[in-house]
Amino acid sequence: MPRFQWNIIHPEGKHRVVVTRELPGKRWLAVLAAADCRVEVYPGTEILDTAAIRAAIGDQCDAVIGQLTEPWGAELFGALKTAGGRAYSNYAVGYNNVDLEAATANGIPVGNTPGVLTETTAEMAVALTFAAARRTGESERFLRAGRYKSWQPTLFLGELLWRKTVGVIGAGRIGAAYARMMVEGHKMNLLYHDVVDSTKLEEDVRAYGEYLASRGEPPVSCRRTPSVEELLKEADCVSLHTVLDDTTRHLIDAERLAMMKKNAILVNTSRGPVIDEAALVQHCRSHPEFKAGLDVFENEPSLSPGLETLENVVIVPHIASATRWTREGMAVLAAANVAALLLNHPAWNRPDIAPFLQGESPPAAPSILNADALGLATYDG
Ligand code: GLV
Ligand code: GLV
Repeated sequence: MPRFQWNIIHPEGKHRVVVTRELPGKRWLAVLAAADCRVEVYPGTEILDTAAIRAAIGDQCDAVIGQLTEPWGAELFGALKTAGGRAYSNYAVGYNNVDLEAATANGIPVGNTPGVLTETTAEMAVALTFAAARRTGESERFLRAGRYKSWQPTLFLGELLWRKTVGVIGAGRIGAAYARMMVEGHKMNLLYHDVVDSTKLEEDVRAYGEYLASRGEPPVSCRRTPSVEELLKEADCVSLHTVLDDTTRHLIDAERLAMMKKNAILVNTSRGPVIDEAALVQHCRSHPEFKAGLDVFENEPSLSPGLETLENVVIVPHIASATRWTREGMAVLAAANVAALLLNHPAWNRPDIAPFLQGESPPAAPSILNADALGLATYDG
């Protein structure tokens, strides 16, 4: 049961909007106030369970902004519909916690927050890649424990990634941003695996390779691999950027880990269950040269037994999107999704969501996942 009183902002507002966690910044509240919303925010930090969220929805609720830690399925969407609800937005770009079919069946549009996480999350994937490659966690623990007695030619030797091969699984916005950082920053050749061609990424890497060649430097290459296996066998570091669904759960399992180079680096900033975490623990134990950098875990916030003691694994607590700009931007997009739907505005139909972040927002919901399924109108301004 929730331990705190909910905060009520703009109490006289016409539409009742429930927000299950405090969100950063001020603009998101202004967006909701401008749409005449009464906003009720849960100020605690524990994860609200389904019963607590149902209680918060109560008999009358127009919309909810929820968290990736909450199971938004038939029960909650049914409760929201019964309470007269017309909108839900996840405060996340990922939506594996949402049963979209159940939302659609209840006639509830579901928003997410794409676009503002791209570079922030890609930068964390880069940070984890090099933290793992250069053993920064392990060597910092060594230093803090007072064990650094003298400079040594072989102290904490790691992996050089310059001009090696980077593999990206899932070349959407975040995967492509990571790929560019590794190709342009570290002159790595790129392999990617995705269900679709990333034509723009391929063209950009080719043009960059031509630029390097024109300066007398070795070019860089880019290739889409037909199979995950081919990528795993060839890449020196592999970063995961897929969605989590039935096709990607345990995509990286014991068998596929065994195909990777003995000294490869595996990075995950997507969703924990994309990796079989128990298999990864085994693999890292038996392959001390192998390294992993993880932002997400199979059973968050718990870690698989043994993971936290492995020196060749760098771990951070699901903070890849944690920059102030991104987290405030996510709040604005979630609020704009809900506000627009309550005002009967159409769904935005462009990948660029920047117009929502400052100045006057367009009269549209920035990102509605089931807009087509619900036959929502699209913005034509
Ligand atoms: C964070 O993990 C998100 O999906 O936004
Ligand atoms: C990030 O914002 C994404 O949608 O990939």
